[in-house]
Amino acid sequence: MLLKISIVSLILATLSEFNKVSGQDIRHFPDDFLFGAATASYQIEGAWNVDGKSDSIWDHLTHTVPCTVADCSNGDIADNSYYLYKRDIEMLRELGVDYYRFSISWPRLLPTSFTDHVNPAGVEYYNNLINEMLKYNITPMVTLYHWELPQKLQELGGWTNPSMIDWYGDYAKIAFELFGDRVKFWITVNEPHLICHRGYGSTTMAPRLNMQGTGEYLCAKNLMLAHARAWHIYNDEYRSLQKGNISITISATWYEPESEKDAAAAEDYHQFDWGIYAHTVFSEEGGWPHLVADRIATKSELQGFARSRLPALTAEEASNLLGSSDFYGLNHYSSVYVYRNESVVGLYESPSYYDDIEAGTFRLDEWKISPNSSVNMVPWGFYKLLSKIRKDYNNPPIIITENGFATAGGLEDDDRVKYFRGYMAAMLDAIEEGSDIRAYTAWSLMDNFEWMDGYTRRFGLYEVDYESLERTRTPRKSAFVFKEILRTRSLDPNYEPTTTTITIDPGH
Ligand code: NOJ
Repeated sequence: MLLKISIVSLILATLSEFNKVSGQDIRHFPDDFLFGAATASYQIEGAWNVDGKSDSIWDHLTHTVPCTVADCSNGDIADNSYYLYKRDIEMLRELGVDYYRFSISWPRLLPTSFTDHVNPAGVEYYNNLINEMLKYNITPMVTLYHWELPQKLQELGGWTNPSMIDWYGDYAKIAFELFGDRVKFWITVNEPHLICHRGYGSTTMAPRLNMQGTGEYLCAKNLMLAHARAWHIYNDEYRSLQKGNISITISATWYEPESEKDAAAAEDYHQFDWGIYAHTVFSEEGGWPHLVADRIATKSELQGFARSRLPALTAEEASNLLGSSDFYGLNHYSSVYVYRNESVVGLYESPSYYDDIEAGTFRLDEWKISPNSSVNMVPWGFYKLLSKIRKDYNNPPIIITENGFATAGGLEDDDRVKYFRGYMAAMLDAIEEGSDIRAYTAWSLMDNFEWMDGYTRRFGLYEVDYESLERTRTPRKSAFVFKEILRTRSLDPNYEPTTTTITIDPGH
């Protein structure tokens, strides 16, 4: 008898070892883990000049210099979600998500940029959207700033103007007032690095100011203080009544040192790319990371600047920022290798963000890379990033607010399926090691206007047909796989969808 039992357990143990080695384990998510899908207003809404909406910096850019965008396109119609939002909610029900992350367009809600005129049509649109979601028990997660700055505010300097902190705070307050009875998850700002580095320190996003090494740091300070302002308004005036959560979403790439000697270079990249934002809110001591502040101060002095290009935070500002979060919102897509040797000395324009870092990056040929090279499929980088956040910031509760892969299009999106499975498995590894990860959001619910890449890169679980007036949405293979993950609350690497028809399961 004893012998039989031990033979059975030996076989089971061998099988489970085999499963692990071949990556065939079915893995389960924690019971209370939540899943959602995300979009952003300019990328899907369309109706750019309808019902009183004014121009955002993206309307301005795409209309004045159309071919800065890869296919000379714009978000004038995009997915037409301003009119088709009920179909969007239907898709969310088909997938069986717990929540939907979408964003509010500031110039749709406040066409003058300020609170003197609240646009009734804007209020009605977002009320309809939120109420439709709630009808089906889908929790709204609302981003207040997903890059749609009113153009008028850009003309006043945009995020380089410290008055933005007041103006953004006023806008946030209106949103809490109007929608906070039903919205319990707020994200103040999406991806400060992209906003400041690409928009102010280069030409790769609106407003394309290209103020290298100065503009991005000015932006960083005002943007982070604006985030803190909104958090404090919510905390002081709305939290006790509305009982929601509010935080910021910080994007982060994983920077892997090429060899041990490159560890410092990789850490520099981490701190300049995302630590500069995260440290102010999530570290123990607050303020800018020393590494970043010291480097920029030293270089600025050598370059002949009268003061550091990174504006100082006063003690009061640093203390307003510190702890201004209810969770760590993380967007993650990719990893790169980092090296530092003599070849990078003096390589970059000075002053600039890259010159401040003074390191090089590369990716491996064998990595799967999405069209236009934007996303490298490196699941272990996600695991390492999550572990670093846990260690550096005392294990904050994390919501993955975006993760996803781009393809050139088509319904058979095996690469995206592989990406989701690999990245979710990496996330489960981090959870098993103690990371407090509460939710995972797929980017994106459907194809949409991918900023400078227009419609050339597709991130959707649903394909959108831009040739059709109806902007027909069709589920891709990844939608079926995502749905099964959500239905079973587990990751089965062998699951193959057997149907091409997606339906709404009972209870959704
Ligand atoms: C980050 C941004 O938040 C989103 O708007 C964008 O479409 C995705 N990444 C993919 O690039």
